[in-house]
Amino acid sequence: MLVKSFLRCALLFVFAAPSDAAVNKTGSACVVTPLGGASSDDTPQILDAFKQCGQDGSITFTEGTYNIGQVMDKLDFRNCDINIYGTFVWSTDIQYWLSHSISVVYAGRSTAWRIGGTNVNIRGYGKALFDGNGQKWYDENKNAGNQNGRPISLTLWQATNFFIDGITWKQTQFWHTFVAHSQNITMTNLDMNATSNSQYKTVNTDGTDTWNSKDIVISNWTVTCGDDCISIKGNSTNVYVSNITCYSSGGMCIGSIGQDSSKPDYIDNVVFEDIHLTHSSNAAWIKTYPGNGHVKNVTFRNIEFTNVNQPIYITTCIYSQQNCDASRIQISDITWENIHGTARYNVGAGMHCSTAAPCQNLQFSDIDITQMDGGAVKYLCSNIADESTMGLKCTGTCPANFPQQLVISSLCRLGLT
Ligand SMILES: *[C@@H]1O[C@H](CO)[C@@H](O)[C@H](O)[C@H]1NC(C)=O
Ligand SMILES: *[C@@H]1O[C@H](CO)[C@@H](O)[C@H](O)[C@H]1NC(C)=O
Ligand SMILES: *[C@@H]1O[C@H](CO)[C@@H](O)[C@H](O)[C@H]1NC(C)=O
Ligand SMILES: *[C@@H]1O[C@H](CO)[C@@H](O)[C@H](O)[C@H]1NC(C)=O
Ligand SMILES: *[C@@H]1O[C@H](CO)[C@@H](O)[C@H](O)[C@H]1NC(C)=O
Ligand SMILES: *[C@@H]1O[C@H](CO)[C@@H](O)[C@H](O)[C@H]1NC(C)=O
Ligand SMILES: *[C@@H]1O[C@H](CO)[C@@H](O)[C@H](O)[C@H]1NC(C)=O
Repeated sequence: MLVKSFLRCALLFVFAAPSDAAVNKTGSACVVTPLGGASSDDTPQILDAFKQCGQDGSITFTEGTYNIGQVMDKLDFRNCDINIYGTFVWSTDIQYWLSHSISVVYAGRSTAWRIGGTNVNIRGYGKALFDGNGQKWYDENKNAGNQNGRPISLTLWQATNFFIDGITWKQTQFWHTFVAHSQNITMTNLDMNATSNSQYKTVNTDGTDTWNSKDIVISNWTVTCGDDCISIKGNSTNVYVSNITCYSSGGMCIGSIGQDSSKPDYIDNVVFEDIHLTHSSNAAWIKTYPGNGHVKNVTFRNIEFTNVNQPIYITTCIYSQQNCDASRIQISDITWENIHGTARYNVGAGMHCSTAAPCQNLQFSDIDITQMDGGAVKYLCSNIADESTMGLKCTGTCPANFPQQLVISSLCRLGLT
């Protein structure tokens, strides 16, 4: 009996494995079906499909679950349509990822999957699901900050003319997406939800971060992430962000930039519009280290929110709260237009610009922020040029070390309650 079933299993294995493992290629079209089984690793066949059909071809992932047990790195896609109908599930082998994740240079971060090349469409048709198995990472990280080797889910690296649409993420490992050294990137109709079900917070599960990239469109996203929802980092130019709904996030961010004062960081021409935020640390904010570079021509328009810790915030010394007035990062031509919602405390805006480079040409119109109970909020301003004509009446000065996360005790310390 035992021998017979052993034989049956052995035969099944011999006959089933080779045909299942093959990518089915017809002309330049590859079709991939999941291997099936909890212990299988679909990475080799996915990489094989990328290799066979990644140039002047198409790759279709049929429905079902693909287990991803290894890093994926493919930078030479060219004229390729990738259609994903299935679920990609990343393995929970923390030790493997910590030692194999691919460096993305920025702040020592790394990624599980890096793609690049030219003219690529990745469509998920609302069916693709990327499951990072992030709970393992949240529990392992225990609310700590950036953990080296904890991988970004998907990184666009030296990517030109990429279109990414209709994908859902569930419990990403770290940031959902990162766009670096890329140009003409459109990412639409994405749904992201990193929610921890233990006592540990997700931490660093940003929706996206852009860096050294230009011409980026980000639209129609719903993001629950516990960290920055959309974050525009150094050397990003021409970024248009619209119709984004974020829950429990950091809202719309410029930065952090300027961490390495020997390398200037520039941000130009960014629009955030039609943004909805619920339960957020901030809504429309600019965060820099005391470094070099500039933030120029940024618009926050039609931002609607509920229960935001500190809706409008400018800091020149994020995280350290030191040397705030030494920052040489010039912040100029920034507009906040039609910003309305409720603040958790009595502060609507805390804006401390550096004395070394006062903010220039800040413009405000239709700012309507109240406390949750309807009470008035304070607008705190320091080192802003032409404050009297900027369209917002400041109610006091903003201390250099004004904290990002307001709590009653910090407000008491600053004499603001
Ligand atoms: C491979 O694709 C061809 C064309 O679509 C189809 O006829 C064939 O059944 C497929 N084979 C397998 C093993 O899926
Ligand atoms: C930008 O990329 C899109 C694909 O997302 C492509 O259709 C368009 O032609 C590209 N634009 C330029 C100027 O190359
Ligand atoms: C995100 O996921 C959590 C946990 O599964 C769920 O409670 C919440 O409703 C989801 N959020 C959205 C916006 O779908
Ligand atoms: C945003 O979603 C709406 C509703 O589904 C759709 O009509 C619109 O085309 C989408 N916009 C983009 C840029 O995909
Ligand atoms: C905004 O995006 C959401 C998806 O996040 C979509 O359901 C909605 O229709 C979009 N609204 C508009 C006006 O495009
Ligand atoms: C940003 O671009 C400038 C000029 O091109 C370059 O000197 C600098 O190193 C870049 N900064 C970063 C952080 O990559
Ligand atoms: C400011 O940014 C907007 C939106 O990206 C752009 O249309 C405009 O030309 C920019 N203005 C300048 C002076 O560069």
